Amino acid sequence: MGRIAGHLSVHMIPCRSNKHVKAITYTRYGPPEVLQVNDVDKPAPGDDEVLIRVRAAEATKSDCELRGFRFSVNWFWLPLRIAVGVTRPRREILGGYFSGEIAAVGKDVTRFAVGDAVFGTAGLRMGAYGEFAALPAAYTIAAKPANMSFAEAAAVPLGGLNALHFMRLAKISPGDRVLINGAGGSIGTHGLQIAKSMGAEVTAVDKAEKAAMLERLGADRFIDYQQEDFARAGRTFDVVFDMVARSSYRACLSVLKPGGRYFSGNPRLSVMLRTALTNRFTDKSASFAFAKETMEELETLREMIEEGRIVSIVDRTLPMSEAPEAHRLVETEKRNGAIVLLIGEPDEAGEESK
Ligand SMILES: NC(=O)c1ccc[n+]([C@@H]2O[C@H](COP(=O)([O-])OP(=O)(O)OC[C@H]3O[C@@H](n4cnc5c(N)ncnc54)[C@H](OP(=O)(O)O)[C@@H]3O)[C@@H](O)[C@H]2O)c1
Repeated sequence: MGRIAGHLSVHMIPCRSNKHVKAITYTRYGPPEVLQVNDVDKPAPGDDEVLIRVRAAEATKSDCELRGFRFSVNWFWLPLRIAVGVTRPRREILGGYFSGEIAAVGKDVTRFAVGDAVFGTAGLRMGAYGEFAALPAAYTIAAKPANMSFAEAAAVPLGGLNALHFMRLAKISPGDRVLINGAGGSIGTHGLQIAKSMGAEVTAVDKAEKAAMLERLGADRFIDYQQEDFARAGRTFDVVFDMVARSSYRACLSVLKPGGRYFSGNPRLSVMLRTALTNRFTDKSASFAFAKETMEELETLREMIEEGRIVSIVDRTLPMSEAPEAHRLVETEKRNGAIVLLIGEPDEAGEESK
């Protein structure tokens, strides 16, 4: 990443308007139609922040959950509602995972230079559904993989960071048998590729429409959960990654070998309690650790992508005006890979740019 030596003020690259920019906003919780493209004030970066001209943002399950304020796991409903806005959303621009270019840097920022192509996470600030987002330079932001378009790169951080976190916790050894439940989702598709690159033999569980994609990504076996119960397939595993919010804990544990490791991406309260019992009273281990989404992990992902070990699976790209459709596709799971919003004017979104 380029460094800026001795600058004293915020450096800017030109944009269409000095004051107003476009963003997909929502001012009340509700169905996808609450998302609208509006003019908003252009954010200004603080001394330790960067201004990012966003090119692409993944439309994620979390964005949909926050928009509608409906969650598959409910134990954090009240604290989260207090945090994000009781009667209406406090932050009107969603979007946690993006790619784009550095448009300006605050005077204390040395890690980035204007014009750097980047990808990363917007953390609790969100705002990646807007043409410009001001974020702390210390956030998980890194150079965009040179061999990916902006759209492809935006589809990596959510699934990639969470998958890498779980795969490392699992301490996979070559030859380990790994089962990924919900392998066709954002985390699952990255988890599958990372597990394969660590030498695992992977069984992917999802629905039939995703079989071909998962086999292309390296799955050794595929189980269609609508046709077959993986717990009755007669195979046992060293590691089970469970990315399905309402799956059966008992079924996942039943296919673990002695000494096997179970990881849950989206644990219910009951699963959290049961993991403690599993760890205390059985020869298996269970964990629901949440990913920290670190800079080091993002840099590792970029290296893996540039070495050809991970590819990005984008089902569709849509312009800002079709944000409601993007959310509908994510919510109804009518997708085979990520749904990515191209941010900015269509001719500026830079989908083809590498
Ligand atoms: N722990 C963390 O730090 C963390 C961070 C981010 C997200 N999460 C959570 O982790 C989970 C996975 O995230 P994601 O972004 O990968 O979600 P996702 O993209 O929605 O993927 C879930 C996948 O599971 C499939 N599926 C649904 N029901 C299934 C079943 N009964 N058996 C097998 N597969 C099934 C879905 O396919 P169909 O619905 O099309 O059948 C989809 O392909 C989510 O619950 C998310 O909230 C955890």
